[in-house]
Amino acid sequence: GFDVSKLRAQTGLVTLDSGYGNTAAYKSAVTYLDGEQGILRYRGYPIEQIAERGSFLETAYLLRSGELPTVDELATFRNEITTHTLLHEDVKRFYDGFPRDAHPMAMLSSVVSALSTFYQDSHNPFDERQRHISSIRLLAKLPTIAAYAYKKSVGQPVVYPRNDLGYVENFLRMTFSVPAEEYVPDPVVTNALDKLLILHADHEQNCSTSTVRLVGSSQANLFASISAGINALWGPLHGGANAAVLDMLESIQASGGDVDAFIRKVKNKEDGVRLMGFGHRVYKSFDPRAKIIKAAAHDVLSALGKSDELLDIALRLEEHALSDDYFVSRNLYPNVDFYTGLIYRAMGFPTSMFTVLFAIGRLPGWIAQWEEMITEPGSRIGRPRQIYTGVVERDYVPVEQR
Ligand code: ACO
Repeated sequence: GFDVSKLRAQTGLVTLDSGYGNTAAYKSAVTYLDGEQGILRYRGYPIEQIAERGSFLETAYLLRSGELPTVDELATFRNEITTHTLLHEDVKRFYDGFPRDAHPMAMLSSVVSALSTFYQDSHNPFDERQRHISSIRLLAKLPTIAAYAYKKSVGQPVVYPRNDLGYVENFLRMTFSVPAEEYVPDPVVTNALDKLLILHADHEQNCSTSTVRLVGSSQANLFASISAGINALWGPLHGGANAAVLDMLESIQASGGDVDAFIRKVKNKEDGVRLMGFGHRVYKSFDPRAKIIKAAAHDVLSALGKSDELLDIALRLEEHALSDDYFVSRNLYPNVDFYTGLIYRAMGFPTSMFTVLFAIGRLPGWIAQWEEMITEPGSRIGRPRQIYTGVVERDYVPVEQR
């Protein structure tokens, strides 16, 4: 109803909304989030039900198409994805050029961006066939790209995908198999990772998804848009928080496990230290994903027979924070990232891969939202305004007179 552009034309006013805390940039039918009540639904389905009974591929299909697949639709989708898991041999040369200590997130975004050099049939976002094949290619290849990045970082030969395996199983095998030993994942690990990917699959207009939309709004292709999203996810205030949580837990452990001292530091805002994995822009009572993940952390660690001193530190931090007025008065609760790192670590992933796992999980949401935006009638380029605070006007002075 209310036309902001008309008001602006009449008054010259623009709205300043720091961090877009109260600005809806889009309409979307993909994900519903109620931050007050801690509700998250994909296409109307509660996250708890999908995580309990669904699969990641089914979730990817749901987010993109709007409906859960039938048995036949899921089989076709699975088959399409499986036939595209290989990377062109020339893509491997990119990894040869990266330094061995390159961060896997940097390799991920670079290689995804490079996909648009390999697929000329990806450049027109208004061509439905191109959108479809580009989406399938991305979903199929991202785990391969991620596993190759890991192999590069540990100096091992890459492992090619095996198409008789499930999505997650295949990724784990490409990551952890070595020439001398085929890795056969424990079903507990496969199921837990599948569940974690589901929980990360979409989260409405978060920083990376908004980035994908903003880049896509210029009608850039899907690979270019997703590559930008991966870079946005990397930062420690967003997807990078899962790695930052583990660094935090390790540093508390190294300093003798003194949780109280760390909490004091956070409350005093010493050196800008934050309790990583706590707080959320939208959730103000609890993060429903964190609830499910906390239970999964217990299950995975006990099934793998791993007792983790870091889990104990995390539990103590949470307990302390939830009864401390600093955190309670600011509505700071554990978010999705607080416990995920502990699970990834128990599975054998190094900290540098944690945010890559987040990216694999978030990909279906990025694709669904990019496509929703590009196909919406009347969709416009994203172009925020600003409040100018610089010098109003002055005369140019030639360099020799300054
Ligand atoms: N630890 C300590 N204090 C915090 C934390 C935290 N984790 N998060 C927020 N605060 C404090 C701020 O210092 C501020 O206090 P003040 O009012 O005294 O200045 C108040 O809470 C509000 O914080 P904002 O930064 O304004 O909250 P915002 O909505 O902008 O940020 C964010 C949300 C980025 C998630 C923040 O809570 C944070 O930095 N958390 C830690 C990083 C993290 O876990 N990120 C993952 C988010 S989930 C995801 O991306 C998947």
